[in-house]
Amino acid sequence: MSYKRDFPIFSNHPDLVYLDSAASTQKPQIVIDAEIEFLSKHYANIHRGLYKLSEKSTSLYDEAREKIQKFINAKYFEEIIFTRNATEGLNLLATTLAKDYLTDGDEIIISNLEHHANIVSWQLIQKFKKIKIKVIPIDENGNLDFEAFKNLFSNKTKIVSMTYVSNVLGNIIDVKKYIAFAKQKNIITIIDGCQAVNSFPIDVQDLDCDFFVFSSHKLYGPTGLGVLYGKKQVLETLLPYQGGGDMIASVSFENTTFNVLPYKFEAGTPAFVQAYGLGKAIDYLSNIGMKNVFNHNQKLMNHAKDRIKEIDSIRVFGNVDKKVGIISFILEDKKSKTNFVHPHDVASLLDEKNIAIRVGHHCAEPLLKCLKVPGTCRMSFGLYNEISDIDKFIDELKKIKEFFVK
Ligand SMILES: Cc1ncc(COP(=O)(O)O)c(C=O)c1O
Repeated sequence: MSYKRDFPIFSNHPDLVYLDSAASTQKPQIVIDAEIEFLSKHYANIHRGLYKLSEKSTSLYDEAREKIQKFINAKYFEEIIFTRNATEGLNLLATTLAKDYLTDGDEIIISNLEHHANIVSWQLIQKFKKIKIKVIPIDENGNLDFEAFKNLFSNKTKIVSMTYVSNVLGNIIDVKKYIAFAKQKNIITIIDGCQAVNSFPIDVQDLDCDFFVFSSHKLYGPTGLGVLYGKKQVLETLLPYQGGGDMIASVSFENTTFNVLPYKFEAGTPAFVQAYGLGKAIDYLSNIGMKNVFNHNQKLMNHAKDRIKEIDSIRVFGNVDKKVGIISFILEDKKSKTNFVHPHDVASLLDEKNIAIRVGHHCAEPLLKCLKVPGTCRMSFGLYNEISDIDKFIDELKKIKEFFVK
C-alpha cells in the first residue's frame, strides 16, 4: 500500500526522500484542504460571537477535540487541552504543578532519554523552588534501568515525567510498567508522547498516566498546535497556566473566577483552524488504522536494519529490537572508533541527492553525552516512506562511506 500520493509535497518534489519525520511530518492533502476550507468557509473567532459563523467555527473546534479524545481513548472531552506544541504542554505542567503541588525539597524523576523540553522546563522551576531532578540511567543501548528507577524514589518524590519513545534512538519504553510503579506510591506521571502517538495506537486510560503530551505537527497535522491530555480530577486541582480571555468565568478587579475544563487552560484565541486540521489528520490516520501505521513503520524499520548490515563502518545507537520509526547512527573508522565522519558531512552529501535526514544532538544533549558522541545522523520514517526510499538512502550512504572510510 502506498500512501505517498496522499502527500502533495512529493508531487512537487518527485525526487525527495524525506527521512526527517521525527522532526516534523509532511501533511496529507486532506489536512491542507481542511485549513483552506476552514479559512474560506467557516472562519470567525470561536466562543465569542452570537452569530452563525462563530457558532460554526466553535462547533468545528469542539469536534476536533472530540476526535482527539477518541484517538487516544481519553475518558472525557474536558481532558483534552490545546496548547502551542508539546513543549508548551510540558512547560504548562511544570509551571502549574510547581505552583500547586511542589514544595521545596521535592523531587522529580525524569530519564536520561529526554528531549530538552522535558529537562529545561523543570530546571526553570528550580529558579524559584528548591526541587531536585533525579535521572533514570540508561545502558549503552539506551535501555532504561528499571531497578535504578525504583531506587530513585524517596518520600520526597512527587512527579515522574518521561518519554514513551526516544526521539534520538527510537527506543520504545515500557512506560506502563513505570507508571504502574509510580501510581502505587501516588506519584503524578507525565508521558511525553511526541514520537509514540504517530507510530502506534495510544490508550491513555490503559496507560493510566496522569498527563500525556504531543505536538500536532509530528502527527501529520498543522504546526502551532499541541495537545495536553490530563486526568480530569488532577486538572481540576491545578491553577490556570495563563490568564486572559476564554479561561475565565467572571472578572472583576477584586476577584476573578475561572472557566470550566478544558477552557480554563486555554487562555486567549486558540489555534482553532489548526485544531480542525489536526482533526482531519486523525480522520486520515484512523481510516488507515494505527496498527497498520505501526506495521508499515516496522516493515521499513526491518528493511533498513537488514540493509544497514551491508555497511561495515556504521554504528547504530539504541536497542535495535525495540525501535520504532527512528534510527540514529554514525559512520566511523572501526579501528580508531572515534574518527567518525562528521554527521554534517553525511547530511550535506545526502542532501545533494535530495535525501533529507537530521543531524546533531536532536535536542537531547544529556543523552548524546551519555552515548559519548557530539551528534548523530538520524533517519526517521513516515507513512509516505517506501522501501525504495530506504534503498536509495543506503546506496548513497555506502558511497559516502567509501569516500571517507577506507
Ligand atoms: C520526544 C519529544 N519531546 C518533545 C519535543 C518537542 O516538540 P515541539 O518542538 O513540537 O514542542 C520533541 C520534538 O522533537 C520530541 O521529539
